[in-house]
Amino acid sequence: MLRVENLVSGYGRIVALKGVSLHINRGEIVTLIGANGSGKSTLLGTLAGLIRPRSGHVHLKDREVTRHRPEKLVRQGVALVPEGRQLFAPMSVHDNLILGAYTRRGDTSEDMENVLALFPDLKDRLGQAAGTLSGGQQQMVAIGRALMSRPSLLLLDEPSMGLAPRISQEIFQALRGLASAECSILLVEQNAHLALAAADRGYVLETGQIVLEGDCETLRHNRDVQRAYLGRGYQEAWEE
Ligand SMILES: Nc1ncnc2c1ncn2[C@@H]1O[C@H](COP(=O)(O)OP(=O)(O)OP(=O)(O)O)[C@@H](O)[C@H]1O
Ligand SMILES: [Mg+2]
Repeated sequence: MLRVENLVSGYGRIVALKGVSLHINRGEIVTLIGANGSGKSTLLGTLAGLIRPRSGHVHLKDREVTRHRPEKLVRQGVALVPEGRQLFAPMSVHDNLILGAYTRRGDTSEDMENVLALFPDLKDRLGQAAGTLSGGQQQMVAIGRALMSRPSLLLLDEPSMGLAPRISQEIFQALRGLASAECSILLVEQNAHLALAAADRGYVLETGQIVLEGDCETLRHNRDVQRAYLGRGYQEAWEE
C-alpha cells in the first residue's frame, strides 16, 4: 500500500527525518511511536505533501508520489488527521465534515452516513459549532472529515492526545473497525500502550531514525520499548 524509502525531510537547516524507510501492507494498522521531537509529525506532514522531502521515495499503491502536492495526494487516497485536530471552530460539525470531501464530486450523503454510523455521538450535533464539542467529539470530527475523502491511507497524528482513556479506547476501537482492504492506517502515537494494542505492526522512531520495527506483540515484549515507552503500569494496561 505504502512504501517509504530513505526519506530525508525537515525545516530549513533542521533535518528531522534522516533516512526513514517503512511500509504498510493493505488493510494494516501500522503504528509509529516515538518521543517528543522524534519526527513523527514531520513524517506525516511529508507523506501528506505539506513538507517537501529532500530525498528519498514514497510509493503509494506502486505509484511514485514523492513531492506530489497535498491536494493531489488527497485525490490519490491520502488523508491526514493532523495533530491538534485543526477543526474550524466556529463552523458546524456538518460543515467541517463536508470540507473533507472538497476534492470529490457527486453525492456525499452516503459518506456522511458512514461517518455518523462510526461515531454516533455526532448525530445530534451536526448543527453545533465544532469548537463547542468535547475533545473526544472533536477528534471524531477530525477523523470523520478525513474519511469524507474516501482515503485508502489514513494518517493519524496522536489521536489520543489530551483525551480520557475511555474515550481514546472508543476511538481506537473505531479505527480497528475502519482498517480494511480499502483503508490502511498509519497511527502516530506517544501513547505506546494504546498504539501497540490497536495496531498490527509498529516502528519506533528516535531523532529522525527508525531504531526498531516488528509486530506489536514483539515490540511490547522488547526491553527497550518497555523501558522507554511503556514504563510502569505496562503489564496492567496490557492485561486489561
Ligand atoms: N516548523 C518547524 N520549523 C523548524 N523545526 C521544526 C518545525 N517543526 C518541527 N521541527 C523540529 O523537527 C523535529 C521533529 O519534530 P516533529 O514535530 O516531527 O516531532 P514529533 O515526533 O511529532 O513530536 P511531538 O511528539 O512533540 O509531536 C524537532 O526537532 C522539531 O523541533
Ligand atoms: Mg508531533
